Amino acid sequence: MVELRLPKNSRVRVGKTWPKPAGAGNVRKFSIYRWSPDDGENPRVDTYFVDMDTCGPMVLDALIKIKTEIDPSLTFRRSCREGICGSCAMNIDGINTLACIYGMDEIKGDVKIYPLPHMPVVKDLIPDLTHFYAQHAAVMPWLETKTQRPEHEWRQSIDDRKKLDGLYECVMCASCSTSCPSYWWNGDRYLGPAALLHAYRWIIDSRDEATGERLDDLEDPFKLYRCHTIMNCTKTCPKGLNPAKAIAEIKKMMVERAY
Ligand code: SF4
Ligand code: FES
Repeated sequence: MVELRLPKNSRVRVGKTWPKPAGAGNVRKFSIYRWSPDDGENPRVDTYFVDMDTCGPMVLDALIKIKTEIDPSLTFRRSCREGICGSCAMNIDGINTLACIYGMDEIKGDVKIYPLPHMPVVKDLIPDLTHFYAQHAAVMPWLETKTQRPEHEWRQSIDDRKKLDGLYECVMCASCSTSCPSYWWNGDRYLGPAALLHAYRWIIDSRDEATGERLDDLEDPFKLYRCHTIMNCTKTCPKGLNPAKAIAEIKKMMVERAY
């Protein structure tokens, strides 16, 4: 997977080092980004030591243990603990991923944890996803229909339903968009891989009747065409999805409808 690290001239400072747990023989070191909007200080990296003999196997297990037993001020999002809600996305060991499904055995040496890159930070490991969600809403992530509503459900063949595989599973964690250099520099106008994957999910839904309007809306030098096929999105997606392919399919549809 793609690795993202802080530059050497970063103004992130060395923070507090918490004591090692007494009597623990199997200890692991965690370096965790901390920043609070309330204290007026630059961000810092705090150091914690976790007794791995009394900790679950996932990075989120360690974060919860640190928050519960060492430092209750450590702030992060989490809910489902099984890779479904998308809320625990963060940068772990240089990789954007979900803390609840990222095993500590996948990390060599100390565990370094930062918020998702190139996003405003609300506090500690929590990025501000307001703009990310607004971009998702902008692609109309719902079924648009014009014909009369059927008495029961909108029906779909098995083959048409299969076209949604690899798309509907997205948990909107933002790992892909925040790993994309094009999104870093033009995130105000480029929709980014997550929103575009969702756009494609509705464009190819056989039941949707707004394909033309959806493509018209994306026919824009920034919204779609700022994708330069860098592929970080696909490399980093913790759900194994392929946003780059979805974007390529939209571009192909744009070309095909022009002829
Ligand atoms: S495509 Fe993957 S990385 Fe991107 S938001 Fe969806 S689940 Fe997260
Ligand atoms: S806690 Fe829900 S995806 Fe990690």
